[in-house]
Amino acid sequence: MNTILVGAQWGDEGKGKIIDVLTEEADIVVRSQGGNNAGHTVEVGKEKFVLHLIPSGILRAGKKCVIANGVVIDPVSLLKEMDGLEKRGIKLAGRLLISETAHLVLPYHRALDEARELRKGRNKIGTTKRGIGPAYGDKAARTGLRMIDLLRPKNFSLKLKARVEENNAILESLGGTKISFKEVEKTYLEAGKKLAPYIANTVVWLHQQLEKQKRILFEGAQGTFLDIDFGTYPFVTSSNTTAGGSCTGSGVPPHRMDRVVGVMKAYTTRVGEGPLPTENQEISDMLHAMGREFGATTGRKRRCGWFDAVATRYARVVNGIDELAITNLDGLDSLKEILICVAYECRGKRIAFPPNDAEELLHCRPIYKKFAGWQKDTSAIRHFKKLPLAAQRYLKAMAELTGAKLRIVSVGAQREQTFEA
Ligand code: IMP
Repeated sequence: MNTILVGAQWGDEGKGKIIDVLTEEADIVVRSQGGNNAGHTVEVGKEKFVLHLIPSGILRAGKKCVIANGVVIDPVSLLKEMDGLEKRGIKLAGRLLISETAHLVLPYHRALDEARELRKGRNKIGTTKRGIGPAYGDKAARTGLRMIDLLRPKNFSLKLKARVEENNAILESLGGTKISFKEVEKTYLEAGKKLAPYIANTVVWLHQQLEKQKRILFEGAQGTFLDIDFGTYPFVTSSNTTAGGSCTGSGVPPHRMDRVVGVMKAYTTRVGEGPLPTENQEISDMLHAMGREFGATTGRKRRCGWFDAVATRYARVVNGIDELAITNLDGLDSLKEILICVAYECRGKRIAFPPNDAEELLHCRPIYKKFAGWQKDTSAIRHFKKLPLAAQRYLKAMAELTGAKLRIVSVGAQREQTFEA
């Protein structure tokens, strides 16, 4: 069974934790898009891990992990993450493979990300400033450098020199900080030496594993509404965060995928700019007061709102979601009444799917259905049937309105705070 796991909302759905749980049923975990803009949090006992580039599957002994071709890699940040794991006793040798065709994030990408955001002023996207957009931009423009280039120092230096010159000219015109070729060359070639044992042709390796009937889990990063094609453009990231991205981002063909699991929170959150139809200040304040909903990568406060079934319905369609994992149910424990957005009213019309234009979305008003809250602590519950009836009803409504089967419920950050529905 090969499984794709995707975020059904705006990212931060708790994918890291669900991946960690589903890894029990897999042999290999693959990241196929995004970069260190992602922050996947997994809590194991008293230990908390935040992973940015390395698949969360690394935390389960014996499982192999792949950073595949669709990911953009900042090698310095990757090495830091690897060192951090090794120091905490997680062995990486022989367990981590990095695609030789994955593109590099370079310091001028980060500088461009920052300079462009500053220029946009009020219209900024609110990026993580990790250089993700400019790195994917270079990939599409065919001016990117890849992991394989790090293994050929002479070629790397030649290509890098030309890229630094061009980007410094752009940075100068944008008022950004120029980059030193020599410094980048030194840092990246050193990083390349350290990473060399992990760099491989992951397409061939993955096909060999498929022939051996190994089970692969594809770990989606970000979420459906941050997808470059299907998200609230331009307030999106620069990769395909939806299920199709797992194929193009790894070289595993669609007919080898058996199941798509969509992860969604019991409410909605978004970090960065862009429309969020069900945004609600009271819910945001409540969750922040509980110490929840701060970004795992940037520490920014996430914007919060009611569960939006219009959004998750669209996510189900675009990703082909078969099963749902609902996280953060415990975040709603104290509420007397809970709302679900079941449709939008947009310029006098009731619509069941979101409009494609982010501007148009600003004219959409959520139509809500009220649900009774349960006002009980659910964090210690380990069986669906033990949940308060109101919580069971709420979860079932979320799944029905989305149109997929409820499979997993999560009531806290710990591995154990998870059960089958
Ligand atoms: P970028 O991916 O850094 O270019 O950021 C583009 C948009 O995606 C911004 O609104 C970010 O806040 C958002 N974003 C990127 N990665 C994540 C993530 O892992 N979780 C939530 N939002 C993200």
